[in-house]
Amino acid sequence: GRVAVVMGGQSAERDVSLNSGRGVLDALRASGVDAHPIDGIPALLDAVRAGHFARVFNILHGAGGENGELQGALQSLGVPYTGSGVLGSALSLDKVRAKQVWIALGLPTPKFKTLPRGADVHAAAREIGFPLIVKPALEGSSVGITWVFDEAGLDAAVELAGRYPGDMLMETLIEGDANEGGEFTVGVLGREVLPTIKIVPKATQYDYNAKYIAEDTQYIVPGLSGAAEDEMGALALQAFDALDCFGWGRVDVMRDRHGKNWLLEVNTAPGMTSHSLVPKAAAAAGLDYQALCWRILETSMQ
Ligand code: DAL
Ligand code: MG
Repeated sequence: GRVAVVMGGQSAERDVSLNSGRGVLDALRASGVDAHPIDGIPALLDAVRAGHFARVFNILHGAGGENGELQGALQSLGVPYTGSGVLGSALSLDKVRAKQVWIALGLPTPKFKTLPRGADVHAAAREIGFPLIVKPALEGSSVGITWVFDEAGLDAAVELAGRYPGDMLMETLIEGDANEGGEFTVGVLGREVLPTIKIVPKATQYDYNAKYIAEDTQYIVPGLSGAAEDEMGALALQAFDALDCFGWGRVDVMRDRHGKNWLLEVNTAPGMTSHSLVPKAAAAAGLDYQALCWRILETSMQ
């Protein structure tokens, strides 16, 4: 039957999602799938109700596509879709609730404080200590995130994060050094983890620019070797399962200079652009972009 590739939408990650979606659409068509682009949830639901689609490939990033809304609506219409369900999506998009679940289960995640609007951010920063990160709880692609190294940078960081919906959080910044640690990510496909990726941005912070625009970010795949690689993969899968995620996704992890791993977040509809991470990890596992899209589509068939 026909497959809707739902992309775009209204979140701050709209443009990223359109890029992901175009890639997915072309790849599915190259595999012989009768795939069609749909922009956003209202248009998708109209088309599904009119009987135009047998299943949905969800590549809507951020609110709507990654917070359970799309999943609940499609479930009530009885149409299968790729990736996690309502609960896993909703928990994963909310960084605060995800961390609370991990903490309850004894899984490592950096120390943090939730900052409701009007909170005393300087008092919170004294509690967390510098360096720290200020982020909106509900955005992706590093939108609204600032690394803060001292008191002087705090107000601007809070002002920026405050422009996005929902609470903010303040979190200890985990840093590696020249020999050990840094920023990692782990793709999950079905019940398997893909090789880890170590991300080495040219600038200090792996931000929106380093993710999608600059060509100077370095990606090391696999990011680790031997037992350390297996350990991070196992932790990522535990974190994924803890939030009731399934199908596919990507777990972001910081590794400190002592080699300890810290969970940041799970993306339930991770980027599939030409710059994105899951395609790089899949390629290292011998799965090209077209085959990867097919495998993701299969996650709607369980
Ligand atoms: N939130 C972006 C799309 C990612 O996870 O790649
Ligand atoms: Mg994210």
